[in-house]
Amino acid sequence: MASGCEGAERPLPFRVEEVPEDEIKRLQGLGFEDYPQLVRTEPTLAYFRPSYARLASAFYNFEFRPDDVVVLTYPKSGTNWTSELVWALRNPEALHLGERVAASERCFFIDMDIHRPTLPAEGDPTYQRFVATCPKGRVEDGVQLQLAAAHKDPRVIKTHLRFDLLRQDLLDTCKVVYTVRNPKDTCVSYFHHSSNNIRSKFKGDFSNFVEAYISYGINYGSYWDHIRQAWQRKGHRNLHIMFYEDLKTDIHGELRKLANFLQLDRDDDQLKAVAEHASFEQMKSRHERLSTNPMIRNFFRKGQVGDWKNAASEELNNKMDEWIRENCHGLDISFKYE
Ligand code: PPS
Repeated sequence: MASGCEGAERPLPFRVEEVPEDEIKRLQGLGFEDYPQLVRTEPTLAYFRPSYARLASAFYNFEFRPDDVVVLTYPKSGTNWTSELVWALRNPEALHLGERVAASERCFFIDMDIHRPTLPAEGDPTYQRFVATCPKGRVEDGVQLQLAAAHKDPRVIKTHLRFDLLRQDLLDTCKVVYTVRNPKDTCVSYFHHSSNNIRSKFKGDFSNFVEAYISYGINYGSYWDHIRQAWQRKGHRNLHIMFYEDLKTDIHGELRKLANFLQLDRDDDQLKAVAEHASFEQMKSRHERLSTNPMIRNFFRKGQVGDWKNAASEELNNKMDEWIRENCHGLDISFKYE
């Protein structure tokens, strides 16, 4: 069975270790009560569920192909919006497929293998697809990883894994779209995502979440480490960086740039159709109809810029401002907060 890493397996240039008990206790005290165990990468910290330790090498060695487009983002930055835009730009004649095939079936979210239980339910359509597509595959080696490897057509692959956790020749192999969202709205969206998680609900309040968010305690690690790694690669011909806030204010202009980057010749009507297809309302409505096993309640929540104002007290906002001032050095980004 194709595992996605048939070549010689490269050893990990980072360590994956168990998170010490006192740190687990700190996170549990903040509200992550369902985290009895976590692992983290060293020396650049990113926290994960324990299954990451088993899969780290498969992620790091996953083979990308020249016709892949990888949507790489920090969580809650507009990943699903971006991947739907990419898919629709590539398939302007097949937008109707979106009405009956869930986005999760058209794009591969490889990280899902960290988040899903080892044995998905028998009735789970992804599991059924896995059994049919990869009859010799083992669930514990990653369902999405193996489904993606077995898919022969051009793929849209989504991941929140930082650049250092993936193959180092990623950008020399295929195109990567990196979407950034301002750190305050990202935090609010991540808070709701964690609080609305059906299997492992975050039980703290927003101030507790901010504490974890600014102190490396969150899945995938620091917002700044993530963005900094993208910025170090800025200017690479295969990297396109977009901002969630720009997508909100000028979707047509951003789609034009994205289509150019993807070397797709699309006229204005096609761009308009893509924008509509991937509008918040349409994506939300399709998700509600087609998503068979949602892990997060109210996933398409608000889709706005500036929602942090509804969540953060003045004191919390000052704390976040200080954290931003301390961490944004070397990044020539003017975040848009409204
Ligand atoms: S995840 O779980 O990390 O993959 O989430 P991600 O897709 O990165 O981000 C989810 C937030 O993006 C909003 N969203 C959109 N906004 C505008 N337009 C469209 N089409 C769209 N699709 C998703 C989604 O509502 C989440 O933001 P919040 O602020 O929580 O509403």
